[in-house]
Amino acid sequence: MSYFLSNQNIKIPNMIYGTAWKKEQTADFVYEALKSGFKGIDTACQPKHYQENLVGVGLKKALDEGLKREDIYLQTKFTPIDGQDKSNMPYFQNDTLELQIQKSFAKSKKNLNVDYIDTYILHSPIFPASKLLRAWDVMSSFYKNKEIGQLGISNCYDLDVLEYLYKKVELKPSVVQNRFYAQSSYDQEIRVWCKQKGIIYESFWSLTANPHVLTNEFVKHLSSKYKKSTAAIFYKFLNQIGIVPLNGTTSKLHMDEDLLIDEFELEKIEVENINFLLK
Ligand SMILES: NC(=O)c1ccc[n+]([C@@H]2O[C@H](COP(=O)([O-])OP(=O)(O)OC[C@H]3O[C@@H](n4cnc5c(N)ncnc54)[C@H](OP(=O)(O)O)[C@@H]3O)[C@@H](O)[C@H]2O)c1
Repeated sequence: MSYFLSNQNIKIPNMIYGTAWKKEQTADFVYEALKSGFKGIDTACQPKHYQENLVGVGLKKALDEGLKREDIYLQTKFTPIDGQDKSNMPYFQNDTLELQIQKSFAKSKKNLNVDYIDTYILHSPIFPASKLLRAWDVMSSFYKNKEIGQLGISNCYDLDVLEYLYKKVELKPSVVQNRFYAQSSYDQEIRVWCKQKGIIYESFWSLTANPHVLTNEFVKHLSSKYKKSTAAIFYKFLNQIGIVPLNGTTSKLHMDEDLLIDEFELEKIEVENINFLLK
């Protein structure tokens, strides 16, 4: 698998396995993904959508069989209270924001059975801005303690917020993880800005939000030209425009097909033509 290099010189695999909504099958899928060749795992300390402890079980099984921790890129998230199920979350509602983040991070390390997380992601911006900076400060302390490699932010569709954060903080964001869909104009401006700053843009909903790309005649033509699935063509296109897609498949066949993106390169004109579909 090939890699993108962030502004912190962290190697991020060109496609990351996503672990949301896999419930009790999470460990099996994570293990399967790692055995198939995925080198990156995305999760969150948000029991409503992710069984982070079972991500740890799947990871451990693969590591026990010889996979090396340093060859795996691991990212997890701090989910602010609005994104949590209040009856099942890693901190108490009355904890200070600082304590919530510390508890959530400790829980993530325990769940994943690791003492180092490659990228720690704020699951969504926090308002007002003073709170956002407080949260970032606590998350940055994990970097100072060498417990994480870098920080990221997710679900941030307002470039002003990203620019504000970037300007105000010492440890700059290295990852932006957003939904890749027409309603946000595919984050065109944000992606240009990320590129300038060495921030890696990760996409989710890449397939779910874009069935018109997967069924497009030109994409189908590329699928037969390169003998790859239309999903693989789209993932390859995303890589070639500088995006790292999250991939949440539960199918071994899809894992194998998608991992073939390293086997071919789209021509420049082909990339441009697919780009026209993102309007
Ligand atoms: N930061 C956030 O707020 C946030 C939000 C949502 C998701 N995420 C992350 O993104 C990950 C992926 O989720 P997503 O919503 O972006 O999923 P997605 O990749 O848009 O869609 C996955 C769906 O596409 C289907 N699919 C069909 N062909 C496929 C192929 N060749 N390869 C992969 N999938 C194929 C899958 O079905 P099969 O299982 O049958 O393949 C599955 O139902 C999540 O697990 C999570 O880690 C983050």
